[in-house]
Amino acid sequence: MSAPKKLFIKTYGCQMNVYDSERMAEALGGEGYVETKSPDDADMILLNTCHIREKAAEKVYSELGRFKGLKAEKPDLKIGVAGCVAQAEGQEIMRRQPLVDLVVGPQSYHRLPEMEAKAREGEKVLDTDFPEEDKFEKLKNRPKAKRGPTAFLTVQEGCDKFCAFCVVPYTRGAEVSRPADRILREAQDLVERGVREITLLGQNVNAYHGAGPNGDMTLAQLIWELDKVDGLERIRFTTSHPNDMQDDLIEAHGTCAKLMPYLHLPVQAGSDKILKRMNRAHTAESYLRLIERIRAARPDILISGDFIVGFPEETEADFQATLDLVEGVKYGTAYSFKYSTRPGTPAAERPQVDPKEADDRLQRLQALLTKQQREVQDSMVGRDVTVLFEKAGRFPGQMVGKSDYLHAVHVADCDRAIGDLARVRILSSGANSLAGALID
Ligand code: 5AD
Ligand code: SF4
Repeated sequence: MSAPKKLFIKTYGCQMNVYDSERMAEALGGEGYVETKSPDDADMILLNTCHIREKAAEKVYSELGRFKGLKAEKPDLKIGVAGCVAQAEGQEIMRRQPLVDLVVGPQSYHRLPEMEAKAREGEKVLDTDFPEEDKFEKLKNRPKAKRGPTAFLTVQEGCDKFCAFCVVPYTRGAEVSRPADRILREAQDLVERGVREITLLGQNVNAYHGAGPNGDMTLAQLIWELDKVDGLERIRFTTSHPNDMQDDLIEAHGTCAKLMPYLHLPVQAGSDKILKRMNRAHTAESYLRLIERIRAARPDILISGDFIVGFPEETEADFQATLDLVEGVKYGTAYSFKYSTRPGTPAAERPQVDPKEADDRLQRLQALLTKQQREVQDSMVGRDVTVLFEKAGRFPGQMVGKSDYLHAVHVADCDRAIGDLARVRILSSGANSLAGALID
C-alpha cells in the first residue's frame, strides 16, 4: 500500500471556517489524505480564507507566494484556496497566482474529492457555485474517529441582512438553514465520538428556520430537540442578530439546563444615526431593552458583543454613544474592530473617518471593554461553576476546561479526565483565566 498523502490546511477567520476545515479534512480523508501540521511535507495545501476585514485578498496572495519554492521542489504538490476569498475572487486567483490548482467556495466543499482528482490530472479546477443541496450531507460518513469534548456544528449559513459594511451576504450568499433531522443526526454522531458540548454555528444563527417534522423550526425548538440527546451536556450557539432574538429563544435561556449562560449578541455601534447607516434595523434603545429581557430570563448570563469604530461619518458624539451603550450593558467579553472598507459594500462609498481618529477611538473602546471583561471575570471569584475539562494543564496534575460562562478555568490536583464535567469553586482570577479547586 502506498503511503498516505498529506494534507495541510491553514484556517483563517471565524469558527465557521474552523468547522469547514474539519469537514474538508474528512472529505479528503476518504481520498487517502491524512493531516499534517507542516506545509513542507504536504501533498496538498489548502488555505481556508476569510474576507471579513483588512486587505484579506492581498494577504492570501502573499501567503500563496511563499509556497513558490515548495512547489518548485515538489511539482506534484497541489495548492487550493477555499473560503470567502475564494468565493469573492474566483477565477482571478488563478490568473494572479498560477501556483494555485484549485479554488473552492464555501458552498462546494462536498465536491472537493472530485476536484482533487481533476487537479491531480493537471487540470485547474474552480467551483464557487451556490448549489441548493446540503454540502455537509454529501460528505459521506467516514469511520468514526474519536473527537475532543467540544465541537462546532453548522446549522445555518449565509445572511440576508446586508449590513452596509459586511461582505458576508455576498461571499456566503443568501441565508440557508439545514433541516433539523440532519443536524440531530450529526449531533448524535458527535456525541458517540466523545463530544459533550456542541456550539451551533451560523452567520445569523438565530434566524434558523430549518425544516422539521411539522414545518419549519426555530432555533429554540432545535435546541430543545438537542436537549434530548443523551450524553450531550452543553449547548451554545453563535452568532446572533438582535432582531432575530425571538421570545422562545430568550425563554430557553431561562429554562433549558443544557443551554449555557453565554450570548454573543453583536450591536456594532451605539449611535442610532450610525446604526441606521449600517442598515442594522435596530436602535441602541431596542438593543438595551432586549438585553434587559434576556437578563430577566437568565440573570447571570454573560453577554458578548462585536463593535465597529470609525464607520463612515462617525463623529465623536456618535462614538460617545457607543461608550454609553457599553456602560449600560456591561460586557463579559467583546470583539472590537476598526472599520475597514470592503469594496462593493454600500459603506465603501461613504466619506471615511480619519484613520488616526479611528485608531484613537478603538483604543478608548478597548480600554473600557477590557475593564468590563476583567470585572466580570473577577466577579466569578468565590462562586461555584461547572467546568468541562478540555486538556491537561502545564503543571503536573493540572487540568484546564471552560466554565458555563466560557471562562478558561485551571484546576490543580485534578483527578478528572478530558471530557469530564465537575463542580469547581473559583479561587482567583488571572489575566485571561480563572483558577479553582474541585468541590467534594
Ligand atoms: N470592518 C470592520 N469590522 C467588520 N466586521 C464585519 N465587517 C467589517 C468591516 N468591514 C466585524 C463586525 C462583525 C464581525 C464578525 O466583524 O463587527 O460582527
Ligand atoms: Fe454581516 Fe452579520 Fe450584518 Fe449579516 S448580520 S450582514 S453577517 S454583520
